[in-house]
Amino acid sequence: MPEPTAGPAGEPLSGGFVADVVRIGDTVRRTPPANLDFVGALLRHLAGVGADLAPHHLGVDAHGRQMLSYVAGRVPWRDREDPAFFSDAALVRLAELIRRLHDACAGTGLAGDAETVCHRDLSPKNTVYRDSPAGPLPVAFLDWDLAAPGRRIEDVSFAGWHWAALGEGADPVELGRRCRLLCDAYDAAPTATAPATLARAELVGVMLDQIESTWRGIDAGADRDEPGMRRLRDQGAVNGIRSWQNWLQSNRAIVAAALEV
Ligand SMILES: Nc1ncnc2c1ncn2[C@@H]1O[C@H](COP(=O)(O)OP(=O)(O)O)[C@@H](O)[C@H]1O
Ligand SMILES: [Mg+2]
Repeated sequence: MPEPTAGPAGEPLSGGFVADVVRIGDTVRRTPPANLDFVGALLRHLAGVGADLAPHHLGVDAHGRQMLSYVAGRVPWRDREDPAFFSDAALVRLAELIRRLHDACAGTGLAGDAETVCHRDLSPKNTVYRDSPAGPLPVAFLDWDLAAPGRRIEDVSFAGWHWAALGEGADPVELGRRCRLLCDAYDAAPTATAPATLARAELVGVMLDQIESTWRGIDAGADRDEPGMRRLRDQGAVNGIRSWQNWLQSNRAIVAAALEV
């Protein structure tokens, strides 16, 4: 269990680009998100309904850091670390986890008038994997700082472009195929609630909007001198993500066709 008075030291955790994150025993301490109360309520809700896909919220420590339970497993935090993290089996499990999240939040006060609550930052770096006979499979999502009410399609679209290659040299048919796999697995996931079918015809448009707001967000944050955003822009993230947007725009029809097959 956490020691509320533990000092700022601890084992730094890899894969973070924004928050300061350290592990102390079974806990993780990190820079609190701006929406700490919402994230706390969301993580408590997920734990309460047994969704088992997120760290537990343990409050705030004496240094004002967000305290979470440490989720054991492997986080693919380097780009394309191991192709096994991007297997079809991993994509299917990923879609099932997203569906579990959305079903757990649909119709709750957390979602308000929206369809559900979205994580809004689903990327391999924010996903814990564990080994299985089918290879490493996602078991939990980290980094809930951007979680907010939203539409189911948003998380699926976001995952779609974060678990695929985009840009010069990438295969748009493969991006479409991977998105189709996600949508099929999401739609087919067993659920206790009403069946949900994704509006997959909207997926590429949602993806283009997300890619654009991602580079614009980094650019604006860097202009405001936010250190994490400055670092990302210095590493070329804004130009890189803009080039993905142009690539997707040019290949839009091919991706959409592969998605609908
Ligand atoms: N609860 C946790 N359990 C296990 N590892 C964690 C946990 N929280 C964070 N990490 C590790 O720390 C990294 C950075 O944490 P994250 O919450 O994603 O912060 P950032 O905003 O910096 O991306 C993650 O990629 C993961 O490797
Ligand atoms: Mg992160």
